[in-house]
Amino acid sequence: MRAADERPEVIPHNRPQILDCDRAAVEAVLSSGWIAQGPAVRNLEDRFAGYFAGGDACAFSSGTAALFVALKALGAAPGAAVAVPSYSCSALLNAVYMTGAVPQVVDVRADNFCLDVQLVRRQAPTARYIVAVHMFGAPADIGALQFPNTVVIEDCCQCLGGSVAGVPLGSRGAAAVFSFYATKIITGGQGGLVWCGADEVSDRVRSYRQFDGCEQYEPRFNLQMTDIQAALAASQMQRLEAIRERRSEIGRAYLSALPEGLSAQAGVAEPGRMLQRFVVVAPDAAAREALRARMAEGGADCRVPVERFELLHRYLRLDSASYPVAERLADTTLSLPMHLGLSEADVATVCEVLRRFRL
Ligand SMILES: Cc1ncc(COP(=O)(O)O)c(C=O)c1O
Repeated sequence: MRAADERPEVIPHNRPQILDCDRAAVEAVLSSGWIAQGPAVRNLEDRFAGYFAGGDACAFSSGTAALFVALKALGAAPGAAVAVPSYSCSALLNAVYMTGAVPQVVDVRADNFCLDVQLVRRQAPTARYIVAVHMFGAPADIGALQFPNTVVIEDCCQCLGGSVAGVPLGSRGAAAVFSFYATKIITGGQGGLVWCGADEVSDRVRSYRQFDGCEQYEPRFNLQMTDIQAALAASQMQRLEAIRERRSEIGRAYLSALPEGLSAQAGVAEPGRMLQRFVVVAPDAAAREALRARMAEGGADCRVPVERFELLHRYLRLDSASYPVAERLADTTLSLPMHLGLSEADVATVCEVLRRFRL
């Protein structure tokens, strides 16, 4: 029991959900005597192939590693241009540069925070590859990104389990990459995976992972996932739809409590949507900071989802004036607690702060 003068616990912004069945799955691996990449990794990959009703899945040590290998397997060679959204994650720059390719940064849409298709040809004029991020779970417009001689990789690190019109996100690009980092939809602590439909691509992906014991030597990183991580992620994968439903339920509660003047990322209540984060858009930076302060007073830890300095055009010292939407989102957005550890009381607390918030 909590002492009367003790402060109530802060509602965490994010927390992985580890159930007894997840512990049992990890324990089974630990007891098996095989903890490196082995049968549990294969099982996780089979689950992904089943989820996509075909194709091949290959697990890696992180989402960054998965993106790096996907780019390489699709032929991204030194000097090749790769379009990336500014409002995303530095992992994209890391993966592109590790292949020797060159990023071309594109601004995003104000409504869903995903790549602005209209700007791709202008801001990434020579791009042969496009990394399309389904930002916070919002579906990027993959159909509209199918330019001639251009390869699209779906970055699904934030949207596993999401779909549009029944079609799972990740199934329309040349490859899809996933992350099992601790804040993602399902987690192994760390981890990543490439899924693709074409055998010749998946053969190259698998070949890269085989860093040791090959007859022909080629320099490669060891980017393997362990069976311990895979067992944890695969156990959680079994309840993916329940995870999606609970996140949607929390999202609907937040949406209905939004006061006038605040809005949410587009499509949060769409059927099939996986809410990795519920991001509120304030009219300006001062209003965002006021909301964050009210949430903190109410006991809820809210975060700026992408800080200004994290915008990819800023990392590359490009002209900020060319990225007005990303700049504005960095200044005006706030991410509310969104995870399976939230109780009904936690959700009610966040909703109450929202309802009382006045601009
Ligand atoms: C959109 C996006 N792409 C790639 C990554 C990289 O994943 P990881 O952290 O597993 O390397 C992340 C995770 O931070 C991400 O959010």
